[in-house]
Amino acid sequence: MLQILCLALCGLLTRTRAESGALLRLGMDILNHEVQSAMNESHILEKMAAEAGQKRPGVKPIKGLTDMKVKDVLLPVITLSFTPGVGVFQCVSTGMTITGKSFIGKSMEITVVLNITATNRILQDEETGLPLFKSEGCEVILVSVKTNLPSKMMPNVIGKFLDSTLHKVLPGLMCPAIDAVLVYVNKKWANLNAPMPIGQMGTVKYMLTARPSTTASYIQVDFSPVVQQEEGNAIQLADDREAPEFPDDYDEGSSQLLLSASFLTAELALLQKSFDLNIQDTRVGELPPQTTKTLSVFIPEVAEAYRKPKPLVTQIRINKPPKVTMETGKSLLHLHGTLEMFAARRKRGKAPVSLFLLEVHFNLEIQYSVRENRLHMTTSLNRLLSLSRETSSVGAFQEKKLTGFITDFLREAYIPAANDVLRVGLPLPDFLGMNYNLAELDIVENALVMDLKLD
Ligand SMILES: *[C@@H]1O[C@H](CO)[C@@H](O)[C@H](O)[C@H]1NC(C)=O
Ligand SMILES: *[C@@H]1O[C@H](CO)[C@@H](O)[C@H](O)[C@H]1NC(C)=O
Repeated sequence: MLQILCLALCGLLTRTRAESGALLRLGMDILNHEVQSAMNESHILEKMAAEAGQKRPGVKPIKGLTDMKVKDVLLPVITLSFTPGVGVFQCVSTGMTITGKSFIGKSMEITVVLNITATNRILQDEETGLPLFKSEGCEVILVSVKTNLPSKMMPNVIGKFLDSTLHKVLPGLMCPAIDAVLVYVNKKWANLNAPMPIGQMGTVKYMLTARPSTTASYIQVDFSPVVQQEEGNAIQLADDREAPEFPDDYDEGSSQLLLSASFLTAELALLQKSFDLNIQDTRVGELPPQTTKTLSVFIPEVAEAYRKPKPLVTQIRINKPPKVTMETGKSLLHLHGTLEMFAARRKRGKAPVSLFLLEVHFNLEIQYSVRENRLHMTTSLNRLLSLSRETSSVGAFQEKKLTGFITDFLREAYIPAANDVLRVGLPLPDFLGMNYNLAELDIVENALVMDLKLD
């Protein structure tokens, strides 16, 4: 009893955790495309024809018919539909023409049209942890039988033919075709949980939380992504208070990928150190020269301490992991840290003198895009939220007066550097040969949703 309770509870716990990672909804569009291309790649048509032409032990020749050959196998048409809670129902409609000679020496043709149906249950492979389709309950249904034999021969000969050949042989012949197609589909999950690099700083792995689930219109795969530092620990995803959800206005049959804000936050935590910045150029973008003279316009105390202008050196240290937040239509990157300004000294090798150190909190607005199957972010300054003086060697001054100066500095000097850091891009789940480049991106509450499009 306790064990059952634990199973239920532990199941619940892993589920809530998973909901703050990533979700994939596979609609019929992608599934159809995959199965069709798997059919192409597995050369199933040729194999079926070859198999059908072979002599099979245990199949009695049909009395009155000789020289039997399979002439054509019709291009199979695959129809798929979702079976909620189970997986995908697959129907392969195909047909073939069988030729031979009748006992009076006339050539005869029998054309059969048939459906091969099976249920492809979606499972999680115990060994690899990957999604796995497994077919069960394969059946062959005769749709029609046509022949050029004289009609009085029909019932007898055809009856025997159906009995001894089609019903006994076709399932053994056709059902492996379904499995062969699935082997190709299953192979295309193989890279899903392999570690993918985020720059030099670490990796991300898209691990499945549980067996994928099936509804009437999609298969859903829940991920508990593992974000791992290069030589260190995995970064825990923060638990969202409310699990992000797919908006419900997507087209029936379409496919989406959802990445939660807490997952993107964990990935950017890998890059925290890269967001530090040292600037010692006096010329920065459109800014006035970065010297003590410029600074003294805002802090007169600086003019007193430095009569001759000295170049400024600025250091930004991000001292908390960056945080991504999202609300409908807008996503921000929050950065907390220190900004220290120094006056350079003329003599080479002399350390610059610290003028002051400020605690800063600012946020950047993120624009998302996808290139080469990676999620890219570019940012622009949204707001400088707070500025507070921690130390100062030029005496007390009102840090508020620096708001404009620091805001300009962030915009011109810091943002381009942050965008350089973000250029690494974040890897997206590699499954079924998905090409994300056409995806349409949408920012919703606590998540980024990609509406996946086929090329
Ligand atoms: C499968 O092959 C056919 C014929 O070669 C082609 O027209 C079709 O686009 C292919 N389908 C996929 C999904 O690759
Ligand atoms: C055979 O499959 C086709 C396509 O799914 C379907 O329309 C048809 O009703 C099926 N026929 C039989 C006899 O099951």
